[in-house]
Amino acid sequence: MISTPLGTGLLRFKSGALCFDPARIGRPGPALFDPSNPALQAASVAVGGRQSAWFVSGEVPAAVLRHYRRGGLAARVSRDRYLWTGESSTRSFAEFRILQLLHGQGLRVPAPLAGAYWRAGPFYRAAILIERIPQVRTLAEALEAPQAVAQAIFAMHEAEVWHADLNAYNILLDKAGLAWLIDFDRARHGPVGLQARRSNLLRLRRSLNKVAGQRGLDCWVQIHRAYEALSA
Ligand SMILES: Nc1ncnc2c1ncn2[C@@H]1O[C@H](COP(=O)(O)OP(=O)(O)O)[C@@H](O)[C@H]1O
Ligand SMILES: [Mg+2]
Repeated sequence: MISTPLGTGLLRFKSGALCFDPARIGRPGPALFDPSNPALQAASVAVGGRQSAWFVSGEVPAAVLRHYRRGGLAARVSRDRYLWTGESSTRSFAEFRILQLLHGQGLRVPAPLAGAYWRAGPFYRAAILIERIPQVRTLAEALEAPQAVAQAIFAMHEAEVWHADLNAYNILLDKAGLAWLIDFDRARHGPVGLQARRSNLLRLRRSLNKVAGQRGLDCWVQIHRAYEALSA
């Protein structure tokens, strides 16, 4: 069973189900996750994605649609099928819950709009629809606002969420210089100890080094310093 916090809608359809925010999604249905649906006016996300994310609008509020895909070696096993272990542990429902939790606490993460899965034998496919944050650049492009980035990461850890892929493309900076965290696929909820916090920060260090070399590392040092100051 899924624990649906008050106010989360659940709609079952033939091969699966979707959860949604009834305040933002007026007509829930599997078509919300189909990038070829003309009502969505889907445009592929250019920067930082795995080629399976789209900006959508029209039928829904400005949003990002993402189909769950594996990266790296695991993609050779299957690109988009995951082993079914129950509804609440589907990638989409789990990410929806984490975003709902953080957004509900006022953290700068996009609001989840809807999450869905489709079952096929012992496997399932999944997709999620998330509020689009307007006028942002990724940290990878901007290499700015280390203080705001540190604050966002610290707030997430204090809210007991560990990010599974905290790279420079999963941190967005808006016009006001505020930092937003995205991409909570496989994130975990529960106390985040020192080691786990460090692993998030080191993942970000590797990423900044990869995208920008020394400039990236310089940016990371400032993020790290600001994070340490918040922890003290
Ligand atoms: N809520 C959002 N608002 C604005 N841009 C976003 C949002 N979510 C994702 N993006 C953009 O799309 C890219 C890919 O999205 P992401 O959720 O990280 O998927 P993945 O990395 O799995 O492909 C991000 O790096 C960012 O550039
Ligand atoms: Mg990403």
